[in-house]
Amino acid sequence: MKIVHCSRLATVAMTTAVLSCAAAFAADVPQIIPAPRKMALGEGEFVCKGYAAAQAKFESDAAIPKEGYRLSVAKDGIKVVSSDDAGRFYALETLKQLAVKDGKDGAKVPCVEIEDSPRYSWRGFHLDECRHFFGKETVKSILDLMARYKLNRFHWHLTEDQGWRVDVPGYPDLVKYGAVRSASPRHGEKAYTGTKEDAAKLNGVKYGPYYYTEADLREIVAYAAERHIQVVPEIELPGHVYAALAAYPQFACRPENLAAREPRLVWGIEKDVLCLGNDEAIKFMENVVDWVCKVFPGDVVHIGGDECPQVRWQSCPKCQERIKKEGLGDHHGLQPWITRHFVKFLADRGKRTLGWDEYLLGDIPKSAMGMSWRESRSGAGHELVSGAAAATRGHDVVMTPCSYCYLDYGQGLKEDPFFYIGGKVTLERCYSFDPCAGVPDNAKAHILGGQGNNWTEYTWNEYDLEWKAWPRMLALSEVFWLGEAKPGFADFKKRAAAQRSWLVRHGVNCAPLE
Ligand code: ACM
Ligand code: ZN
Repeated sequence: MKIVHCSRLATVAMTTAVLSCAAAFAADVPQIIPAPRKMALGEGEFVCKGYAAAQAKFESDAAIPKEGYRLSVAKDGIKVVSSDDAGRFYALETLKQLAVKDGKDGAKVPCVEIEDSPRYSWRGFHLDECRHFFGKETVKSILDLMARYKLNRFHWHLTEDQGWRVDVPGYPDLVKYGAVRSASPRHGEKAYTGTKEDAAKLNGVKYGPYYYTEADLREIVAYAAERHIQVVPEIELPGHVYAALAAYPQFACRPENLAAREPRLVWGIEKDVLCLGNDEAIKFMENVVDWVCKVFPGDVVHIGGDECPQVRWQSCPKCQERIKKEGLGDHHGLQPWITRHFVKFLADRGKRTLGWDEYLLGDIPKSAMGMSWRESRSGAGHELVSGAAAATRGHDVVMTPCSYCYLDYGQGLKEDPFFYIGGKVTLERCYSFDPCAGVPDNAKAHILGGQGNNWTEYTWNEYDLEWKAWPRMLALSEVFWLGEAKPGFADFKKRAAAQRSWLVRHGVNCAPLE
């Protein structure tokens, strides 16, 4: 068992741990998030030299649920019992939050008995690095915080209309053309009013090239794995691929539309998508996905599938030929056809396929997992597939409904220096989220959990990102860990205040609790 201390957090923690934890403990009851399922405070405290975790004794008990643990802190020692390494890891994360003092100079932890385990196996944090790019250090600090709050899936949105962020061997033009924009929407200037017209005005500032090398990706995957976090890469297809088409216009139905050889400069949904009548275009995507399977060892690959306009396919001779040859009826048959293709392609490589809910339209194998984000008909006019409907049909589903889980929506603060895409998702709204709401009892086992989604059209840098993610991710982390057993918003808010103090002390630009 490797005891991991957060990189960025650890350096600050050396000097502030005593102060921050003492403040958290002042309320007498430990201010832990997510709240442990069962916790009984004892008398007295455990005191030791060095870090508390270094004193813990570990035992195994196969009866303890996956990722769960029992943590006993007594005056004479600390014991952790779990059935797996993740459970051990989470026991130590709880220990860190519990300690009044914890550092190389010594530790002091209240005596306590905790029995804890997660309600959901998918507890996700999503990051769009295509609209804006944040880089390795920001990603690592996100992973550190995810570990602290027992989040275990980092959904990394790496390709889009507005940017392609991975350097794939054999396809150098992907980053040469796809990872740089000559300008971005003029958001952020005083003149910005939030209108469509304004959103289409450009700032004239070159953005990029920004991308990850294979070595960078492997470094992040390893860093995440040390924190029991699986990285779920997302390679969008067949829509939201304009940055790739800028590199390889021949893979579009209308290559002439890509003459400028650059990603889409404004936000919104692009009509030029992958030509599904072109075998070379499909081979290209296969090669990318095959490489992704090798770089990301997790069992799930996300292939996007949202908001794919079909208008180009309707007038493309190659796409029409494909429809005829494969007996797909009309253009509506093309996306299910390519989805089935990649579900099999990924299964052959030992992976499960995940995609945004509209990719489940049509005849899709039950092994395909859905990520439910829409709550009404939207997204390039595709018919709605609700998470409940997908689960009822037998698909495993991750619930990320935009009105609870989209952290690019406004958080309803009295004063807020940052821009949002619109909407309103308050901290209390996040806390009220029930991933199983509206799901029939016999389909609930298909709800794997949920995720906070950080889309970044209007999020320019890490300060902006942190402000939008925290404290709302605290609320979602408690929802995903405890489900129906969450103790209530008033109780959460007290603990969130202590956690916010900790976050701010550790340099995280956490928004206020209102
Ligand atoms: C999405 O928000 N387009 C999945
Ligand atoms: Zn075509």
